[in-house]
Amino acid sequence: MNKLENLLENNKHWAENVKKSDPTFFQRLSTLQAPKYLWIGCSDSRITPATSIGLLPGELFVHRNIANLVVHTDMNCLSVIQFAVEVLQVEHIIVCGHYGCGGVKAALENTRFGLIDNWLRHIQDVGRDYKIELERAETDEEKLDKLCEINVIEQVMNVGDTTILQDAWLRKQNIAIHGWIYYLTDGIFRDLQVTVSSLKELINLRAKMLTKQK
Ligand code: CO
Repeated sequence: MNKLENLLENNKHWAENVKKSDPTFFQRLSTLQAPKYLWIGCSDSRITPATSIGLLPGELFVHRNIANLVVHTDMNCLSVIQFAVEVLQVEHIIVCGHYGCGGVKAALENTRFGLIDNWLRHIQDVGRDYKIELERAETDEEKLDKLCEINVIEQVMNVGDTTILQDAWLRKQNIAIHGWIYYLTDGIFRDLQVTVSSLKELINLRAKMLTKQK
């Protein structure tokens, strides 16, 4: 017996329920994709981006990886950003991390998991840049929280540094990058107040973050 049968059954019920409340929902959805938002978040199974911010299928373009990283040579992430910005013309990019992120924790504690350790090196690089700021934390938990937040902010700047955003801003495209963080314990997203919507704002954020490295 197909062990995933229950999931396919669930899916049938879900589709039926959606059709019951909105008979033309799938018809409309299949002909148009026009999301206003791109989500770049952690793969963590406890986060359900669209559902938790009240968006329907078709309203959120999504990229997820472990610890919500935006790496300048990651063709997967860059392709998602390029398509979202240039083709879908999204107006907002939300980089969302979460407190207690296992990827950030492993990077901080130098835990060995295998291949993924190479991916998490990017967070260790961030941690090294903000060593002094992190050492100001009084507990290990506070240190982890701090690195989770800083990691989001660094990824917001990484998105801004891509040729995709640089070019979009040069041609005056209306697009903003936001940094959010999620508390698994209460299900609430918090805005880290690092929104950048122009080259100038990106430079200002970079300057502000550089003072935290001293
Ligand atoms: Co995570």
